[in-house]
Amino acid sequence: MELKEILEKRRSIREYAEGGRLTADMVKDFVTAALEAPSWKNTQTARYHAVLSQDMIQKIREKCFGSWNFRNTANVQALVVTAFVKDISGYRKDGTPDNELGNGWGIYDAGLQNSIFLLKAAEAGIDSLVMGIRDAALIRELLEIPENEEILSVIALGERAVTPEKPLRRQTDDVLKFY
Ligand SMILES: Cc1cc2nc3c(=O)[nH]c(=O)nc-3n(C[C@H](O)[C@H](O)[C@H](O)COP(=O)(O)O)c2cc1C
Repeated sequence: MELKEILEKRRSIREYAEGGRLTADMVKDFVTAALEAPSWKNTQTARYHAVLSQDMIQKIREKCFGSWNFRNTANVQALVVTAFVKDISGYRKDGTPDNELGNGWGIYDAGLQNSIFLLKAAEAGIDSLVMGIRDAALIRELLEIPENEEILSVIALGERAVTPEKPLRRQTDDVLKFY
């Protein structure tokens, strides 16, 4: 698939079909591709906690999502908790931030990686939903995620039951300024 086609195919999916083809090896491939992203001083601080056990998926859905994302994730095949190791990207060796963004750079790096993750999934025919509405403290407790990692999104993976319409995009000229 050409990149243009993958970009058009990727949608946030909130209705998944039962079953599906997703395997742990496929998730591993998406993460391996994501690691090709650039990062602050090549620090690569993004982390992935991939939950494929249906038992744990249901626990996370019930305990860590509100009603909206609980509904959105019926039949998903995996929930991938994304995180980054704090106080490295954007920081000097002596622990002081390089500039005003501090850990914003860790979030930036993880976002760059996560985009590739989503596009590789779409290329493999795996649909996704990035969720920022989640209870990070409960997720940390359930998966025993160490305190030095800041939890970001949970990415649901599965196969779509319906294809939603593409939400409107801004016009390029509204967001791009040349100098
Ligand atoms: C950081 C982030 C957090 C998001 N959180 C949620 C969420 O909690 N629940 C949800 O249904 N969609 C969530 N979304 C999906 C967006 O609503 C969606 O990407 C946007 O409407 C554009 O639609 P598209 O992904 O199909 O292009 C999130 C997306 C991002 C990037």
